Amino acid sequence: MALFGSSYMLGLIHIPLLFSLCFAADPFANFQLELSYITVSPLGVPQQVIAVNGTFPGPTLNVTTNYNVVVNVKNKLDENLLITWPGVQMRRNSWQDGVLGTNCPIPAGWNWTYQFQVKDQIGSFFYYPSLNLQRASGGFGSFIITNRDIIPIPFKMPDGDIVIIIGDWYIRNHTALRTALDAGNDLGMPDGVLINGKGPYQYNTTLVPGGIDYETINVDPGKTYRIRVHNVGERQAGPLPDPPNDFYDTSYVVNQAMSIRQNGSASGARPNPQGSFHYGSINITDTYILRSMPPVVINGKTRATFNGISFANPDTPIRLADQYKVQGAYKLDFPSAPLTGPPRVDRSVINATYKGFIEVILQNNDTVPQSFHMDGYGFFVVGMAYGNWTENSRNTYDKWDAITRSTVQVFPGAWTAVLVSLDNVGVWNLRAENLDRWYLGQETYMRIVNPKEDNTTEFPAPSNVLYCGALAHLQTPQQVSSSASTVSGQPRLYLMLLVVFSAAILVLR
Ligand SMILES: *[C@@H]1O[C@H](CO)[C@@H](O)[C@H](O)[C@H]1NC(C)=O
Ligand SMILES: *[C@@H]1O[C@H](CO)[C@@H](O)[C@H](O)[C@H]1NC(C)=O
Ligand SMILES: *[C@@H]1O[C@H](CO)[C@@H](O)[C@H](O)[C@H]1NC(C)=O
Ligand SMILES: *[C@@H]1O[C@H](CO)[C@@H](O)[C@H](O)[C@H]1NC(C)=O
Ligand SMILES: *[C@@H]1O[C@H](CO)[C@@H](O)[C@H](O)[C@H]1NC(C)=O
Ligand SMILES: *[C@@H]1O[C@H](CO)[C@@H](O)[C@H](O)[C@H]1NC(C)=O
Ligand SMILES: *[C@@H]1O[C@H](CO)[C@@H](O)[C@H](O)[C@H]1NC(C)=O
Ligand SMILES: *[C@@H]1O[C@H](CO)[C@@H](O)[C@H](O)[C@H]1NC(C)=O
Ligand SMILES: *[C@@H]1O[C@H](CO)[C@@H](O)[C@H](O)[C@H]1NC(C)=O
Ligand SMILES: *[C@@H]1O[C@H](CO)[C@@H](O)[C@H](O)[C@H]1NC(C)=O
Ligand SMILES: *[C@@H]1O[C@H](CO)[C@@H](O)[C@H](O)[C@H]1NC(C)=O
Repeated sequence: MALFGSSYMLGLIHIPLLFSLCFAADPFANFQLELSYITVSPLGVPQQVIAVNGTFPGPTLNVTTNYNVVVNVKNKLDENLLITWPGVQMRRNSWQDGVLGTNCPIPAGWNWTYQFQVKDQIGSFFYYPSLNLQRASGGFGSFIITNRDIIPIPFKMPDGDIVIIIGDWYIRNHTALRTALDAGNDLGMPDGVLINGKGPYQYNTTLVPGGIDYETINVDPGKTYRIRVHNVGERQAGPLPDPPNDFYDTSYVVNQAMSIRQNGSASGARPNPQGSFHYGSINITDTYILRSMPPVVINGKTRATFNGISFANPDTPIRLADQYKVQGAYKLDFPSAPLTGPPRVDRSVINATYKGFIEVILQNNDTVPQSFHMDGYGFFVVGMAYGNWTENSRNTYDKWDAITRSTVQVFPGAWTAVLVSLDNVGVWNLRAENLDRWYLGQETYMRIVNPKEDNTTEFPAPSNVLYCGALAHLQTPQQVSSSASTVSGQPRLYLMLLVVFSAAILVLR
């Protein structure tokens, strides 16, 4: 009953609207998120940012493990939108992942309702828009998964939660930043760092102009708080402060990262994905080396690559193309090691084996520190070192108490090795989390199919699935609200078709 009590406090209990396949006994949490532009001046200069429900950053979504989360996203921007939930493992449900390999975009003026269940993952996550560099303009907010009362956490319940959303920030908006990247320019130094959407305290009157609103966090004496920090920035390590710092002390950063380990004998809440038990003694079935290189010009356009391939998003999402047997939407030929030929732009996807236990080596041959992210999975970070990875590097792996993560840093001129148990059927995005590199094509997908076609290992497509590309004819039009800044692309086309269709009916009559 305590569980229901706390959810009533949040006012979130709701009856499922879309589909109720299973998990019917678990509570539902309903949210409505409206993304629109607002003008604010976090660094003292007015600029358009993407607000969620009129606030920047957006509201915190606070749920409990096992909840069925229903989020109706309304796109009041003037371009396509998708919201993604990195680190939240969409078990058997890549339909809800919110990236172009699995979802058609939500056109301007439309809404789309996500529905997924959060399982076994207590922690602090955040949501953000995944398309077109929009995250550089905002659209993000905190997504918290708390423990059920019956699951103990290995510390006393804190007196309060403090959410800190921190990231570097440009005064230019995402469209201006996109123009710069498309023209082959580096984004250059960010203009500042924002904490919870606010700028710096005026610690120096020469360096920081007056009148900037800064974040204040109130705490009561004698109380203990849990601080949840989200890094929503564009880059890793951005412009570097003066030495001494981590970047120049190169061995320190690697040693420090590898020193964070799981307490193998502690009980309580910690990630325990399938295959994690004695992960170090499971035989590796496949090895993928993914090498990132600095951006290059391919066919006159600046692009970033993994293994010599810069990913081009398919017109028909991979998962949907499979469902409807659309031919040629993508290729299953992503190489397991860097290609030696000239770099190319392609729709190459990893043909991953269901129930495989794979080793992924991230070899950063780019000039910037990177972070690498995998949707749908947690992975064990078993090794990290400077130089090129070789088979002998396996002797240095942590096979006992490595921590599970969904995002890991890879230093320039260095490698990071992760182990992943491929137990989650679907199509899952692998990407550079550095926003500019991702935008320029440093990503691919892992396609994981259960060869038995057993309908218990993956959810069916949701009833509200959006269609586009080769399947656009299956999409019914949606009433476009007048508050959208512009109506473009799909909705206008469908409204036109509807008008033509109605006219044809009139003529036939
Ligand atoms: C967002 O705004 C809508 C419309 O005002 C409201 O119904 C909804 O509860 C808000 N959502 C959150 C998470 O605050
Ligand atoms: C972005 O900034 C440019 C000017 O740099 C401006 O023309 C454009 O309207 C802005 N777009 C949005 C969506 O704010
Ligand atoms: C859009 O929102 C309405 C409620 O406002 C909901 O009934 C409808 O299912 C949503 N559309 C999609 C495609 O999720
Ligand atoms: C989230 O909800 C829990 C109760 O379920 C509460 O203890 C916690 O303070 C909330 N956190 C935030 C940031 O709202
Ligand atoms: C403020 O910054 C300027 C420029 O870096 C520096 O010259 C000055 O000493 C700083 N003032 C204080 C009070 O630290
Ligand atoms: C690991 O957890 C156990 C049990 O809670 C505890 O006794 C031990 O001190 C912990 N070890 C470390 C290194 O934190
Ligand atoms: C792992 O592979 C070795 C041979 O390479 C084999 O002897 C062993 O049985 C395998 N272990 C498992 C759990 O499959
Ligand atoms: C993908 O891998 C499976 C084995 O896991 C294999 O049967 C199939 O032929 C592969 N497909 C392609 C296009 O390589
Ligand atoms: C690592 O590999 C790259 C690409 O093959 C090569 O250019 C570079 O010289 C190698 N670095 C070292 C330290 O061996
Ligand atoms: C990247 O590779 C080039 C050759 O392809 C090599 O000269 C360079 O040292 C490498 N740089 C890093 C940071 O790995
Ligand atoms: C799943 O497959 C079983 C057995 O083939 C069948 O009885 C059941 O109706 C299927 N369920 C769904 C949701 O398709």
